[in-house]
Amino acid sequence: MGNRTEQSAPEHVAIIMDGNGRWAQARGKPRLFGHHAGARRVREIVESCPDLGVKYLTIFAFSTENWKRTQTEVSGLMKLFKRYLMSETKELVSSGVCVRFIGDRIKLDETLVALMDDLELLTCNNDKVHLTIALNYGGRDEVARATKRLAREVAAGRIDPEDVDDETLARFLDTYVLPDPDLVIRTSGEARISNFLLWQSAYAEYKFIDTLWPDFTRDEFASVLANYSTRERRYGAVPG
Ligand code: FPP
Repeated sequence: MGNRTEQSAPEHVAIIMDGNGRWAQARGKPRLFGHHAGARRVREIVESCPDLGVKYLTIFAFSTENWKRTQTEVSGLMKLFKRYLMSETKELVSSGVCVRFIGDRIKLDETLVALMDDLELLTCNNDKVHLTIALNYGGRDEVARATKRLAREVAAGRIDPEDVDDETLARFLDTYVLPDPDLVIRTSGEARISNFLLWQSAYAEYKFIDTLWPDFTRDEFASVLANYSTRERRYGAVPG
């Protein structure tokens, strides 16, 4: 920590992929058309990570709030996730991508959960890129679930409440094996965090860009990363 010199590529990039609906609307198409276009961008951005020096990529695919969308959109998205997981498995396995999911699986249908489990298992020895897909994920929900598990350990006498600090709680988060994000990107011009990686992004850089997610290319990703490299991160320290 305390690194304030020129940065190389961020090790961990997290992305809020926003703007699929507006992209579709602008073309007079249903929202799901935009989500399908968005899924193709996911592939392009994941593939670009090794060349761009990004080791960890975390993407927000479905939030705990997204259930409030119409039934048509929610079920269309769930179908898209299933299709994506099936169609991308071979490519992800062979290109060295380790896939993980964060979020609460309890509300997801069992076919989808089975596909998620399979993909995690099939890719768990890969180490080229670590792709984390946030599905039914909410930052507050994650902290609440982590607190519940931690409280159980305390109640069972395995953890002394006096020993609880931020690292203790972090061990109970869905992201316990991941480093914190260095850079969080949100597309589509909205400058909001929307409950994404609240705990983990305490020291992250945020980059809000106007491009709608289905238009976000590998080249634009590269230029956002180049821009990050010129910023300073002080983690609360005073410049020396
Ligand atoms: C936000 O755009 C996007 C989502 C809620 C879904 C994200 C899903 C994808 C990019 C599809 C594929 C993902 C995977 C992992 C295969 P929005 O619908 O909120 O757009 P709007 O703000 O323009 O309405």
